Amino acid sequence: MQASAPKHRAEPYDVVDLITAKRHAKALDEGEIDWLVDAFTRGVVAPEQMSALMMAIVIQGMNRDEIRQLTAAMIASGETMDFGVLGKPAIDKHSTGGVGDKITLPLVPLVASFGVAVPQLSGRGLGHTGGTLDKLESIAGWRADMTNPEIYAALDEIGGVICAAGTSLAPADKRMYALRDVTGTVAAVPLIASSIMSKKIAEGAGGLVLDVKVGSGAFLPELDEARELAQTMVNLGADSGLETVALITDMDQPLGREVGNANEVRESLEVLAGGGPSDVVELTVALAREMLAMAGKLDIDPRQALADGSAMDVWNRMIRSQGGDPQAPLPEANEREVVRATRGGTVQRVDARAVGVAAWRLGAGRARPGDPVDHAAGVTVHAKPGDLVAAGDVLFTLACDNASRMQRGIDSLAEACEIGDAAHEAGPIVLERVTANGR
Ligand code: URA
Repeated sequence: MQASAPKHRAEPYDVVDLITAKRHAKALDEGEIDWLVDAFTRGVVAPEQMSALMMAIVIQGMNRDEIRQLTAAMIASGETMDFGVLGKPAIDKHSTGGVGDKITLPLVPLVASFGVAVPQLSGRGLGHTGGTLDKLESIAGWRADMTNPEIYAALDEIGGVICAAGTSLAPADKRMYALRDVTGTVAAVPLIASSIMSKKIAEGAGGLVLDVKVGSGAFLPELDEARELAQTMVNLGADSGLETVALITDMDQPLGREVGNANEVRESLEVLAGGGPSDVVELTVALAREMLAMAGKLDIDPRQALADGSAMDVWNRMIRSQGGDPQAPLPEANEREVVRATRGGTVQRVDARAVGVAAWRLGAGRARPGDPVDHAAGVTVHAKPGDLVAAGDVLFTLACDNASRMQRGIDSLAEACEIGDAAHEAGPIVLERVTANGR
């Protein structure tokens, strides 16, 4: 007897109806959202239909129930992990990304040095903000890919892991993000929040500290938008039982003085050795305090582990366990140029986005997924807001291996440093703290 041909599955919804409903600002219900994500994953909803629906979401928004359901549907599209088996608290951290944001590098070994497991399943950079894995790959021999058993073993033995996020966590998000990237639908709170939190909730840590950036170098430059994103993500965490706190932090100027891959590893090593720029240290310590408090470790001063070398010890073990040589020299660029001040005065502002774009044009970042990066390329910021400079002083050093990239990097920095006569008072790096119970 011949087997009968498989019947086509009857679909309970028509995606065009859902696009039209959202275009008219109607809320989608649980069944509709679950079906949408599942049907997109199965290829029943075409990429152009998903793109149209996401554009309708960008314009009309989503309510709290819709965002929660979208997040749950994206989690259900893949595997979940569970760090509850480790026998010690596992606390995760996520930054929405900024220029010179190397905080993960000193933060993970710092928090791990107090007996907390810190899993950082990270990504690569795209556009003007750098990627954690690209930075670490400037260390000779270091490899980003780890299997799940390797991740659990490293968390158990060393405490901290920074590695590539596999494709198994929230795969629907990966496909949706690829569409958003090319259809102008990235910058919308419901989509950013569900994208980030689906991966973080699927990761299965016991707590999550979010660093939501605001300012010219951030995804969302306005404070109102950053607040809305922070509160939405914190609520998503609370709704799914993941304790979540967000700090809204300044990204109007680059963090620290180094931007680029090897440049940022170098600066992170200064922090781990007990030095480093004050803004990087302050933010690392503020995030560490939140993570330690979540792990039930109150009344600890994280600075002590930077001063006594215990955070550096964990760093060395982390790097070695992934094949890296923590003592190997970091790559140095063949080409260097400087940008000098055209007048004297007080630095009023250093534009984070302009510095990020310069580093990216020098080759520190990539234009398309999969492009190679130049690990030695980057920008050193010599003058920060509040510093006094004289005409002719060096404001920026640009470094790269490919001389043909240099001029475009210099052009990006033409207006990046504003010098004036007024005194400048530095603002705080942590602007607000957002919890599930309100600010
Ligand atoms: N990072 C993500 O993972 N998703 C977004 O939508 C934006 C930033």
